[in-house]
Amino acid sequence: MIVLGIETTCDETSAAVVTDGPRLLSQIVLSQAAEHGPFGGVVPELASRSHVRELTAVIERTLRDASVSPADLSAIAVASRPGLIGALLVGVTTAKALAWAWEKPLIAVHHLEAHLEAPTLSYDGVAAEKLEPPYLGVILSGGHTDLYHVEAEHRTRIGATRDDAVGEAFDKVASILGLGYPGGPAVEKCALEGDPKAVPLPRTLLAPDSLDFSFSGLKTSILYKWRGQDAKGRGPIATAPAPADICASFQATVADILIEKLRRALDRTGLDTVVFGGGVTANQALRTRLSSGLDGRARLVFPRPEFSTDNGAMIAACGLRMFAEGKTATLDLEPDSTP
Ligand code: KG4
Ligand code: ZN
Repeated sequence: MIVLGIETTCDETSAAVVTDGPRLLSQIVLSQAAEHGPFGGVVPELASRSHVRELTAVIERTLRDASVSPADLSAIAVASRPGLIGALLVGVTTAKALAWAWEKPLIAVHHLEAHLEAPTLSYDGVAAEKLEPPYLGVILSGGHTDLYHVEAEHRTRIGATRDDAVGEAFDKVASILGLGYPGGPAVEKCALEGDPKAVPLPRTLLAPDSLDFSFSGLKTSILYKWRGQDAKGRGPIATAPAPADICASFQATVADILIEKLRRALDRTGLDTVVFGGGVTANQALRTRLSSGLDGRARLVFPRPEFSTDNGAMIAACGLRMFAEGKTATLDLEPDSTP
């Protein structure tokens, strides 16, 4: 089997070709970061326009790189939810048009489900992780901070953010400190020179049995510290900490919150495997801290960093599995912004 995967849920235009394994044959990821950078975040209308401009050429080049012709394809998979509605519409419409023109089955992939399957991808002789549900699925991305109890045929959300997503918190901290967009990689780089214990920050854990998250207080606390204000925003009363210390302390706080919530979720579900997905899992410091904090509690599975952020390969891999299970969509498929 050979599946083409299309990803346009947010600000990456990506296509990939995946064969059985799942093994990656080719992939192109076109980031729109430079276009959104001046605005400090993703501008939905710009994202849609950019997908329209780039997607067909990205698909053509991906097929060419894999030496695969449309006739060789077994199916076309597209991320149809969740995401920015205009951005999704471009991918879904393109996939439907190609499925109709090339007479291929269409597969509607859930973007978050695909994030969790990214670790199963192999390529260039790099082996993949074997994943068998049940497991605890953890999405750490720009739009989501979700905990899922993943079973063979069901995925139950058992925890979610009540305000900002964790990636959004990284982006906002970067914006407060003037580190540029996208914020995650900038905060990670800045933190390398910092002391994770230097700046005391609130660890919001909500009720003792809660599996939900809240990151807005953390973000506000950083804003006040950066302005030299007290915890109520009065002042300035002190000099601001160094950006590197803020970034390192922020990352350590995020890791501590995640560790506590994952411990609670493992206790509650009795699961022994945690599978991570989403752009924030590209953060090496966070991975190291999560690994040592949950050492002995569960097997931790991370995607390779290049499959952490949005990519077509995970859509194609998820689509390949769904195709094998007979889960195809019809040409009535509509994009859906909701998770
Ligand atoms: O999964 P993703 O590519 O897109 C969504 O589905 O949202 O995640 C994007 C998010 C952004 O908020 C970005 O700042 C964050 O992932 N991110 C990182 C890193 N690389 C990307 N956060 C922390 N450290 C990183 N190295
Ligand atoms: Zn994503």
